[in-house]
Amino acid sequence: MKQYTLTIQEIHKETEDTITLCFKQPGLRKIKYQAGQYITLILRINGRKYARPYSFSSAPSVDAALQATVKRVPNGIVSNYINEELKAGDVVEVMEPMGDFIYNAINPETEIYLWGVGSGITPLYSLTKEILNTQPNTKIHLVYGNKYKTSTIFLDQLVQLQEKYNSNFKLSNFYSQEDTIDEKEGFKGRISSSFVSDLVSKNINCKESLHFICGPSGLKETVKNALINLSVPLSAILTEEFEMVIDPKEFYDVEDSKVIIDFQGQQSEIFVPKGKSVLDVALDNNIEIPYSCQTGNCNTCKAKLKEGQLKMLGLTKEREDLAQDDFLLCCSYPLTNNISLEVI
Ligand SMILES: Cc1cc2nc3c(=O)[nH]c(=O)nc-3n(C[C@H](O)[C@H](O)[C@H](O)COP(=O)(O)OP(=O)(O)OC[C@H]3O[C@@H](n4cnc5c(N)ncnc54)[C@H](O)[C@@H]3O)c2cc1C
Ligand code: FES
Repeated sequence: MKQYTLTIQEIHKETEDTITLCFKQPGLRKIKYQAGQYITLILRINGRKYARPYSFSSAPSVDAALQATVKRVPNGIVSNYINEELKAGDVVEVMEPMGDFIYNAINPETEIYLWGVGSGITPLYSLTKEILNTQPNTKIHLVYGNKYKTSTIFLDQLVQLQEKYNSNFKLSNFYSQEDTIDEKEGFKGRISSSFVSDLVSKNINCKESLHFICGPSGLKETVKNALINLSVPLSAILTEEFEMVIDPKEFYDVEDSKVIIDFQGQQSEIFVPKGKSVLDVALDNNIEIPYSCQTGNCNTCKAKLKEGQLKMLGLTKEREDLAQDDFLLCCSYPLTNNISLEVI
């Protein structure tokens, strides 16, 4: 896994609780990325190392700087630290760009629909800029939900893009908490399945449309189900998860366990209580296993199980690429009370 050290050139305040970090591209080893991918920031806070992925809000063909937009999460360690402590001139360790929430231009006639809520706009904003700039014949619909106009990240920039590319780009805003809203500015309420169906079915080639969804699980389910009802194939529906959500019922057979971890030739024994992932407890014990997404997508935290049984919870994508004894530690929970594994 390649790592880089980047300097923060500027910080933009987007809304009351969101900022954009603008990193200077390194002079020699420029970082290559695709719109929709993410960069992982590595920060040391109170002596512990934290890694957190942030989608690029910049687009490679449009923006000179690498940009990541960070919204505060209530009680979140890293998002609040970034918003409060980082300043222009600071240097930050990052991992190479990753992620498959990307656009591969196959047919420029394929209409693209982007569905987002809150900070889920960041990869969608990057994709919008990149596609408008590089694919003049491709139409984009962005449907974007927020509580208030003032909490809407990139609202002014998106309205400007709509004015500039008015034949290719259509923005529909939804506001769940605004009392009154001018119909030119958007809709009141949340993105509903009837809105999804009405909008997408207007497209006579809707079975060939391409969809990107980024937001809470409720949005994903609403949009995905409406699209499936219109016979849009699952392969044309891409999703990006910012947070792993696990149904508590899935922990029914998980056990408290002693876990021996072999990492870089060193063995450590930790106690993993029921409900915590092996990765979480290892990091709490200063075993600095590399990781990034914490949602079971990037493979950075992969280990081989040597003894005992683990189960992975919260995976949102089929993982046929993993061998039977491969486990992603960010999603791994013990099923037996003695486990031994090796980080690879
Ligand atoms: C692929 C990917 C891309 C991402 N891109 C962005 C981005 O562009 N902008 C951005 O602001 N964030 C993004 N995130 C989320 C980000 O990586 C962090 O998870 C988030 O900033 C919270 O970290 P924290 O250390 O502040 O919170 P933690 O201290 O890790 O968590 C504190 C509490 O908040 C909950 N929580 C964690 N994450 C979220 C969340 N996203 N929303 C609501 N509650 C949460 C946790 O369950 C926990 O209870 C992305 C995540 C992934 C996996
Ligand atoms: S940290 Fe990405 S798969 Fe575990």
